[in-house]
Amino acid sequence: MAVDLLLGLQWGDEGKGKIVDVLTKNYDIIARFQGGPNAGHTLEFDGHKHVLHTIPSGIFHDGTINLVGNGVVIDPVIFKRELDNLEKFNIDFKKNLLISRKAHLILPTHRLLDAASEASKGKAKIGSTLKGIGPTYMDKTGRNGIRVGDLEMDNWQEKYRSLADKHEAMIDFYNAEIQYDLSELEAEFFRAVEVLKTLTFIDSEEYLHKAQQEGKSILAEGAQGSLLDIDFGTYPFVTSSNTTAAGACTGLGVAPGKIKEVYGIFKAYTTRVGSGPFPTELFDEDGATMGRVGNEFGATTGRPRRCGWLDLVALRYAVQVNGVTQLIMMKGDVLSGFEKLKVCTAYNYKGETIQHFPYNIEAENVTPVYTEMKGWEADLTKMTEASQMPKALNDYIDYLEKELNVPIKIVSVGPDRKQTIIR
Ligand code: GDP
Ligand code: IMO
Ligand code: MG
Repeated sequence: MAVDLLLGLQWGDEGKGKIVDVLTKNYDIIARFQGGPNAGHTLEFDGHKHVLHTIPSGIFHDGTINLVGNGVVIDPVIFKRELDNLEKFNIDFKKNLLISRKAHLILPTHRLLDAASEASKGKAKIGSTLKGIGPTYMDKTGRNGIRVGDLEMDNWQEKYRSLADKHEAMIDFYNAEIQYDLSELEAEFFRAVEVLKTLTFIDSEEYLHKAQQEGKSILAEGAQGSLLDIDFGTYPFVTSSNTTAAGACTGLGVAPGKIKEVYGIFKAYTTRVGSGPFPTELFDEDGATMGRVGNEFGATTGRPRRCGWLDLVALRYAVQVNGVTQLIMMKGDVLSGFEKLKVCTAYNYKGETIQHFPYNIEAENVTPVYTEMKGWEADLTKMTEASQMPKALNDYIDYLEKELNVPIKIVSVGPDRKQTIIR
């Protein structure tokens, strides 16, 4: 049985949580493959809104296994908070939520190091969510990390102490003015670790291998977006993991040949939270409207998201790097009422018109080349069938499909599970 992937094609927050929730009924297992609590995946149904950070977005479906893969980094403190928030749903976590032994742990000192590193960068800061993501992946690749499986060993606290001591010296090195009480943070961390230990730890690559042999269907859930990928994103303004399709292979132990559908999800416009270049960013009333109507505030940090027109150069690049087989367009409803819509089809790059995503995309190197399209007036939020969609929206979609050479199979017209049109 094949494995399908769902991943963001822009700078994150495309609506992955909503669509994974919608698609979960087709799958036996939902598996997160990278990132950590820097993610905020929003689901809405029955008049309630839920934000998940580490727990996969299939958790509300009884009988679906939710797996946190080896590529994920887990902060026990945030994980415990997520479990607490879900308490009223009577979910059998021991059975439905499985954690890879090879997933790395975010320690309190990783969070402090993230803050110290950002503070030391001044204006050049990444705009990190300050969840300790960068320092944790640094310890992973530096071969110093503590993994979930270590919690089953007797000596893990010694390993913890020596790593945390080293981190304290590193925090001092940054000379940043960060106030903290480590003993308090550690007490909270150790309490949360005990809660984590009540869950089921597994050799997840073996589990997924067997599941495939038994014919189970698996959906791999990505976090962040392709333009935040550590290799292919807008470095250094990126996160510290591979958010692109290959990240699902390393983050779950799934062989490349086993991957079938790659669902690429994008907003009908573009947003970005945190620092870094953004060629189609708007600083005018149009951008403000997108932010206001789209309620564009970070699900993890509450920061306002920067907004701009759809960037087909960046989208084409993401489709290519991921091998996207089906596209999902989100938030079409937010564009209702714009008389004209702009789509960036090429970049003017150092005096030349280019179609590919270049090494330098800062404003001094790149100016977007736009095509204009007719907007639509209709409120889309009550629509449930493709036949109800206005002509101008169909034209917009047809144009994008032609430019990207991949079909748009789902159009989302509101945050609720039900506001989803299958084409
Ligand atoms: P994720 O990180 O990719 O899961 O996305 P987020 O949850 O961070 O951000 C997406 C936001 O848009 C959330 O507040 C969703 O509830 C909301 N949303 C998702 N799809 C739609 C849509 O089609 N229309 C509107 N208006 N909001 C949507
Ligand atoms: P989801 O899964 C949007 C951004 C941060 C910052 C940069 C690095 O909800 O789409 P980090 O905390 O990883 O060191 O931050 O990446 N970022 C996200 N932006 N959505 C996310 O996740 C993000 N996770 C990280 O704002 O610019
Ligand atoms: Mg998000």
